Amino acid sequence: MAIYNLKINGKTQEIDVAPDTPVLWVLRDHAKLTGTKYGCGIGQCGACTIHIDGTAMRSCSLPVSSVGDKAITTIEGLSEAGDHPLQEAWVEHDVPQCGYCQAGQIMNAASLLKNNPSPSDADIDAAMNGNICRCGTYLRIKSAIKTASQ
Ligand code: FES
Repeated sequence: MAIYNLKINGKTQEIDVAPDTPVLWVLRDHAKLTGTKYGCGIGQCGACTIHIDGTAMRSCSLPVSSVGDKAITTIEGLSEAGDHPLQEAWVEHDVPQCGYCQAGQIMNAASLLKNNPSPSDADIDAAMNGNICRCGTYLRIKSAIKTASQ
C-alpha cells in the first residue's frame, strides 16, 4: 500500500492503495465517485473515460501510481450543476438508452471539444470511434456533440 494525494474534481484526497490499483477503482471504491463505469477493464470500451489534466484517459488501465499531481476530472466534476454544453445537449437529444456508457462518451467528447471546438463529422467519428455503446446511440451522440459545438 502507499498513500497518494490525488487532485480529484478540484479537491485533494488522501488515498491509501496499492500502486498498481487502476484509477477507476480508486474513484469508485475509495473516492465514492461511481459515475465512472467499469465496462471491459482492458482499455477497449471507453466506459471508464476520465480526464487527466484535461486529456481523455481510460481509468481502468491507468495505475494510480502514474497520476502524480495531475488533475483528475470525472463526470461528477465536469461541470458544477450538470450544465456543461455537452450535458445539456445530451438531454436535448435524449441520447442515453441504458445509459451505462454515457459518462465515458461525454468525457471523451468534452476532451474532443476542448481541443477542437468545431469538429467535422469525420473529426467526431475519429475521436469517438473507440467509445462503445451496446444500445447503438451513436447517431444521437453525434448530433449532441454537433449541438454542443455550435
Ligand atoms: Fe476501461 Fe472498458 S472499462 S476501457
